[in-house]
Amino acid sequence: MEKDIKDILTKAKEQLSKVQNKLELQQANAKFLGKNGLVLEKMKELKDLPPEKKKSMGQGLNELKQELTALFEDKFNQFEKAAMDEALANEKVDVTIPVKPTLWGGMHPVEKMKQELIEYLVSQGFSLHTGYDIESDYYCFEALNIPKDHPAREMQDTFYIDKETVLRTQTSSMQIRVMETQTPPIRMISMGNVYRIDEIDATHSPMFSQLEILVVDKNVSMADCIGTIEGILKHILGEKTKIRVRPSFFPFTEPSIEVDASCPKCGGKCGGCSMCKDTGFVEMLGAGMVNPKVLENCNVDSKVYRGFAAGFGLERLTMMKYGISDMRDLYENDINLLKQFR
Ligand code: DAH
Repeated sequence: MEKDIKDILTKAKEQLSKVQNKLELQQANAKFLGKNGLVLEKMKELKDLPPEKKKSMGQGLNELKQELTALFEDKFNQFEKAAMDEALANEKVDVTIPVKPTLWGGMHPVEKMKQELIEYLVSQGFSLHTGYDIESDYYCFEALNIPKDHPAREMQDTFYIDKETVLRTQTSSMQIRVMETQTPPIRMISMGNVYRIDEIDATHSPMFSQLEILVVDKNVSMADCIGTIEGILKHILGEKTKIRVRPSFFPFTEPSIEVDASCPKCGGKCGGCSMCKDTGFVEMLGAGMVNPKVLENCNVDSKVYRGFAAGFGLERLTMMKYGISDMRDLYENDINLLKQFR
């Protein structure tokens, strides 16, 4: 039997050296180590041996089984490695193959406008505050000198969540939040969405975005207010832009103004421009000197400090800058519009 064991090992080694692939390896494995393989067959013969031989033969067969298992495993691993090497050699990535053209959009024009304004105003020393879309009636109206029964509330048809909570109708709410938490001098901007119950048309939407500006310091004047606004409008619409100031009314500013910019399309020399409806100017924003009552609501001493504030509609500014005549175009995610703003 000892000779049989050696023979099996020799045969197995011989066969393994000829095996070409995994299938042949499997077949060889079955022949030697399978259920009806040569090793098990020999093991079955153990029972007929005399006890003194049984032990040493049993041990010899076990060693044979272990050695064969290791040899087969080794061969299996060689095949695996060869397959992997081949795959790696064949699957090289060719970085020079042209990419399939994809429908690339671009940054949304209103977002682009926001970034441009932030960059400009931060460089002028303003700090940015975003605030909350869901706001309390107090910050959105009351603290801005618009009490519950004030007719000015009617100008901003509001989405009420409950009696005291609203979707903010104006970013002016952030003036209060900032003045409550910071001591002057203050130079802040706030940007974000505002909400009003408006029908959607070419110039209205129930959701749009605003830029708010607030400066509070000891010696600020209406001249600073107008100069700052002029700087922003020139930066966005071009150096040639002229501004026109008209008196207005907002409960949180006194005096209040509205500012128009010379029409970016016809440059103010009008003889038939649809953008400014032949007037040469387009209405851009509201502004004014912060009403002392608002300063006092935030515990800012109105005898020492004064402030100015302004609020811009960002969609309007974007439409003026890029000559977009219908506000709805800004909300339709049309790739043909967006790809112009890469
Ligand atoms: N909050 C006003 C609105 O939404 C715009 C506005 C006007 C903001 C005057 C101001 C301001 O800060 O001083 O209609």
